Amino acid sequence: ATSFIHRFEPASRAGSPPLLLLHGTGGDENDLLGLGQMISPGSALLSPRGRVLEHGMPRFFRRLAEGVFDEEDVRRRALELGDFVADARQRHGITAPVAVGFSNGANIAAALLLLKPDVLSGAILLRAMVPLTDPPKAELDGKPVLLLSGQADPIVPATNSARLAALLSQAGASVTHKVLPAGHQLTQTDVALARDWIGNVA
Ligand code: MLT
Repeated sequence: ATSFIHRFEPASRAGSPPLLLLHGTGGDENDLLGLGQMISPGSALLSPRGRVLEHGMPRFFRRLAEGVFDEEDVRRRALELGDFVADARQRHGITAPVAVGFSNGANIAAALLLLKPDVLSGAILLRAMVPLTDPPKAELDGKPVLLLSGQADPIVPATNSARLAALLSQAGASVTHKVLPAGHQLTQTDVALARDWIGNVA
C-alpha cells in the first residue's frame, strides 16, 4: 500500500476515540496534533501528510483552481488514504478513527465518507465543501458528522456547505451543521464545539 509520511501518538486514555488528523493546504503532519489534543485529550492521533504538492505545499488531492477539484484525483487519493488508515489500524491496533479535517483535509475526509464510509467512525469537517459533483450512493448509516462553516468564508460559499450537509444527511449520516461568525480560519468556537460534540458522540 502507499505510504504517507505521518505522526502517530498512541492513546493515553482508554476509551477515547482515535482521531485521523487531516491538515489544510500547505500544512503537514504536525499541524493538527495540538488541535487533536484539545478536542479529545488522550485520544490516539494518526496524522498523515498529504502526498500532493502544489507549489511545494502539501495537499490531499489535486485541484485545477481554488474550489475546482480534479475529481479523478480526489477519488484516487481518497482510496489511497483509506488504505493507509486500514494499515495503520492493524499496525497500531486502533479502532476506526473519527476524522478531524481542516479545509483541504476536511474535503478529503468528506470524500472518504462518500467513497469508503467504513474507514471512519465519524468526522469533524472544518470549513469543508462538496468534494465530488457526482458521488456514489453512500450508506452512512447514522455516522455522526459535525460540519462547521464560516459565515464569511471567502473560499466556501454558504450554498456549498449547505449542499454538503444535505448530501451527507441524504446518505444517512447524522449531521450537525453550524455556521459560525468566522472566515476560513478556525476560531476558539470551532475548538469548543468540536470538543463538546465528540464528548457526546464518542
Ligand atoms: C481545497 O482545495 O481543498 C479547498 O479549496 C480548500 C483549500 O485547501 O484551500
